[in-house]
This record gives sequence, C-alpha cells and structure tokens, in this order.
Amino acid sequence: MLNDWLAPKAAALESRGLNRRLRARSADEDVIDLAGNDYLGLSRDSRLIEAAAEAVCRWGTGATASRLVTGTTTLHEELESALAAYAGHEAGLVFSSGYLANLGVVTALGGPGTLLVSDEHVHASLIDAGRLARSRVEIVPHNDVEAVTKVLAERNEPQAVVVTESVFSVLSDAAPLAELAATARANDAVLLVDEAHGVGVTGGGRGSVHAAGLAGLEHVIVTMTLSKALAAQGGVVLGPEVLRSHLINRSRPFIYDTALNPAACAAALAALRVLIAEPERPVAIHSAAARLAAVCGVPAATGAVVSVPMPGPRETVRAAELCRDNGVLVGSFRPPSVPDGISRLRLTAHAGLSDADLTRACTVISRVISEVS
Ligand SMILES: Cc1ncc(COP(=O)(O)O)c(C=O)c1O
Repeated sequence: MLNDWLAPKAAALESRGLNRRLRARSADEDVIDLAGNDYLGLSRDSRLIEAAAEAVCRWGTGATASRLVTGTTTLHEELESALAAYAGHEAGLVFSSGYLANLGVVTALGGPGTLLVSDEHVHASLIDAGRLARSRVEIVPHNDVEAVTKVLAERNEPQAVVVTESVFSVLSDAAPLAELAATARANDAVLLVDEAHGVGVTGGGRGSVHAAGLAGLEHVIVTMTLSKALAAQGGVVLGPEVLRSHLINRSRPFIYDTALNPAACAAALAALRVLIAEPERPVAIHSAAARLAAVCGVPAATGAVVSVPMPGPRETVRAAELCRDNGVLVGSFRPPSVPDGISRLRLTAHAGLSDADLTRACTVISRVISEVS
C-alpha cells in the first residue's frame, strides 16, 4: 500500500531531475570541502575537540532531560551569557538546534494578535515557524522595505514581527537591516533576524545586527545556529531578558525537547573563544569567497556562500558530481531549496582552506562549469 502511494511521487521527482539521495562520507575522505558550513574551519580544531571530550567526561553523553527538568547545566548558562555578550544582547536562550530556535521564538510570539511579516527568501525553519504560529502571515517581496512598511501600517493586529535573515542562506545577499529596524520601530513591531550565516562571518564575527548598531535594541531579536561557523550543534535566541523569560515559559520547542547535549555546548563555547582570539578567521572567509566568486563569474557575496546559477537541476547535479570526481565537494541546490526556482551550485568558503587547496578548487570548478553549462 505504501509503495502504491509513494512510488508515483518518487517517479515524478525523478522525471524532473529533483530526487535527492543521501551520500555518507567517510571520516578520512581526502577532498576539498566547499559544501559544508564549517565557515571558520573549526570542526576539527583540537581546542573544540578537547572541550567536547572533557564535557562528555564531566557531564556524560546526553543532557538527560529537558531544560526545565534536569537538562540545564552550568555549561548551558555559560554559553548563553557568552553568546549574548559577544553579539551585544542582554540575554540568550539555547535550543537544541537553529531550526528549533526559530520555531521556538516565532511560535511563542505568534498567535491571532500577532502579524508575521516574512521575507519571501527566508529559511524553511522560519516558514514552518509561521505555519505553526497561528498568526496571519504576510509574505513580502525579497528585501522590500516599502512592502514591509505598508503591511505593518495597514494591519489590525496589535503586535507584529518582521522576519528576515541577515545573510540569506542560498543567495548570500544581505538584508537592509537598518531600514527594517527603523520601520519596525516606527510601526510598533519587532524585528527578528536569523544570523545563521552571519555569526562568525560578518561584522568581524559578531554578525550583521551588531555591525549595523542594532544589537541590544529592545525591539530587535536575533537567532543563530551553533552548527555552522561555530562548528557545534544547537541554536540560540538573543534579545532582552523579558524575551528569555517568556520563551522559558511559553516556547514549546524549548519546553518539550531534551536539552542541547553538553558536549555541543562546550564545543560552541570553545569556538566562540577561538573566534574572539583569532579575528583573522572571518577575514579569511571573505578573501576565499571573493576568489571563488571571481572564478565562477559571479559577484562577491556578503557571506561565505558563493551561489552559481546553473542551466537546470540536471546540470547542477552533474556539475557537483564532476567536481566530486575531481576531489572537490560542492553543494547542488535545486527546487524547492532555492528561493527563486533557479538551480545553482552552492560553494562555501572556509577560513581553513590552504592557498593550494583554493587554487586547485578554482581550477576544477571553472573547468566543470564551462563543461556543463
Ligand atoms: C538560515 C538558517 N536558519 C536556520 C537553520 C537551521 O539551523 P540548524 O541546522 O542548527 O537546525 C539553517 C541551517 O540549516 C539556516 O540556513
């Protein structure tokens, strides 16, 4: 019965070149990785590994329960304070993923009295958060501040939240944060910015909200993942203390979920310390991204991601396969994972790439793109 149900769906995806497959990597694979999100090149750093191992020895292999039961360790609170201080906010609350941080904050602020105004390019976690929030959701054209202002001004709901990313995950372009914060304030709304691709990368590492002078404002909330530049796992919501208390009491993805593993907390804390001590790492991301962008003939992006439009989904997959055959891993993004329907190669610049690796990757990628396009 399940086969009759699902096999035609799989065949339909296959016929459009849109089926997805998992590919397990081995720990010692000898490739240049331009597909993962380890932007600062810290996932195998001995300082993070030692911190995570020590946390396992000290706290055990799991958090044992949800945060409100026995899952909150001193490590969780240390991480929350450190992230809030680094990014310039009063308080922070850690979730077990960035996805859950987004679900957690949007659903806790949502409801019939709250309008959500969401950029059309936001990440799936923010889209799903809007669906769960029981709010009216207005989707506005990408980075269109006038459209945001119009729906905020015309609303009937007493509260509103403007939802965006600081650096968008696929196109790696920037949101007009200062303008969005200004219109949010003028219209009695809150601005929620997902810095998944900003932390560790923009604003010298502290993110785009900090760089724009918006961190710590009463109507500005930030979410981050700890799984990309910070090379760990988990997510965080940053903002005023009153928000943190509200989430502890009202956010179902926080309350009904086992706490983040202590090893991930310790790794994220260690990553933050490295980031503070080695400010050259974010700079290295931008120079690697600029080199990759030049070789692919696309403009340099705001973040670590270099997004290369391809003729179609099949060409994208073929190009990624050819790169892999030549020892370079790149991402292939196709609908529905692309906001504008255009399939593309997604290359991620890492701080840890050697000059030789970058040169080799550029040679392979430029040859493959001209062969496939
Ligand atoms: C913009 C954005 N927000 C949220 C997430 C989810 O973060 P996590 O992988 O920690 O669940 C991601 C990454 O996958 C992302 O790109």
